[in-house]
Amino acid sequence: MLASKLPKVGTTIFTRMSQLAVETGALNLSQGFPDFDSPAPLREAVARHIAAGHNQYAPMTGLPALRQQVAAKVLALYGCNADADSEVTIVPGATEAIFCAVQALIHPGDEAIVLDPCYDSYEPSVELAGGRCVHVPLALPDFSIDWQRLADAITPRTRLIFINSPHNPSGALISRDDLDRLAVLIRDRNIHLISDEVYEHLVFDGVRHASVLAHEELYQRAFVVSSFGKTYHVTGWKTGYVVAPPALSAELRKIHQYVTFCGVTPLQYALADFMIEHPEHIAELPGFYQSKRDLFCDLLRGSRFTFNRAAGTYFQLADYSAIRPDLDDVAMAEWLTREHGVAAIPVSVFYQDAPRDLRLVRFCFAKREETLRQAAEKLRAV
Ligand SMILES: Cc1ncc(COP(=O)(O)O)c(C=O)c1O
Repeated sequence: MLASKLPKVGTTIFTRMSQLAVETGALNLSQGFPDFDSPAPLREAVARHIAAGHNQYAPMTGLPALRQQVAAKVLALYGCNADADSEVTIVPGATEAIFCAVQALIHPGDEAIVLDPCYDSYEPSVELAGGRCVHVPLALPDFSIDWQRLADAITPRTRLIFINSPHNPSGALISRDDLDRLAVLIRDRNIHLISDEVYEHLVFDGVRHASVLAHEELYQRAFVVSSFGKTYHVTGWKTGYVVAPPALSAELRKIHQYVTFCGVTPLQYALADFMIEHPEHIAELPGFYQSKRDLFCDLLRGSRFTFNRAAGTYFQLADYSAIRPDLDDVAMAEWLTREHGVAAIPVSVFYQDAPRDLRLVRFCFAKREETLRQAAEKLRAV
């Protein structure tokens, strides 16, 4: 008999809800991916580079041209003067980067703090490294950091804190003040950070993303992770990057080279070309997704769901207390899919111990206008 290393892990809710959406023919606002295509020049660049023979292993740390583009971007946006050779690593997806960073940081018996609700890959990564996750809930209703609870959760074994802003599933943002407080909290301790910033460009209402890359003190102990998949509407490309100081990058790379060795070559060429030729893409992204959020929220106003507009990400939470308070959120997501033809994700699955009275589901609004209109019409009828 094989003794499972992850006995608690089953099929994720994202797979289950997407399957249910297919089975029932429901509109799929559950899993986080666009139902529209990436920019044509980006797709054409991939075809061009495949035809040009860029089909063998990329350098382990990533294509130099793409690392240079990332370095230029983080300098322009966050004032972070990261060295493209020693501080930027291209990876096959943010998830791989998170996994490698955790393996680099966590030794058996170490503790990592996660702020619930959180992305589902953090805990298995920590467990596979022999560590243990300590779950600290974010404060409701705005999903802000509960500083007292966070301070109370730190022990001499704490080696890592995960932060995620813009935050999946809530859409909440961490502010510069939050980063300052965090810096004070860990200043005299041997604690590192993984800052999951995959939605860094999806920040709305004129607010600036408070990146750890713009915080000199925190950056010195951080792995900052981002995803080209989210930024360029190509989640299926599973391509991302990590920016971390040289010593941390060196440890991450030791692991990355034995997990995957390198990212996919023609995709890296194409992304580098596109970043050079279309700098406007990133600048236009907040407006692009803010209009989708606003369209969806405006249309949802006539429904019995209640909500505060997401400050970031492409997810909108909605409270269904006025509709089916008798159903927990997993049952509600299934009911919505089967009976009303719209698939959503229950928020409790992002928690170790969700509040019993949580009545929130998450809708992904990275969808065509037509999909959002159809979904909102169905949701107004609920
Ligand atoms: C918060 C968060 N982190 C990481 C990822 C993974 O990104 P990638 O697809 O690049 O591995 C996601 C994707 O949904 C996410 O929502």
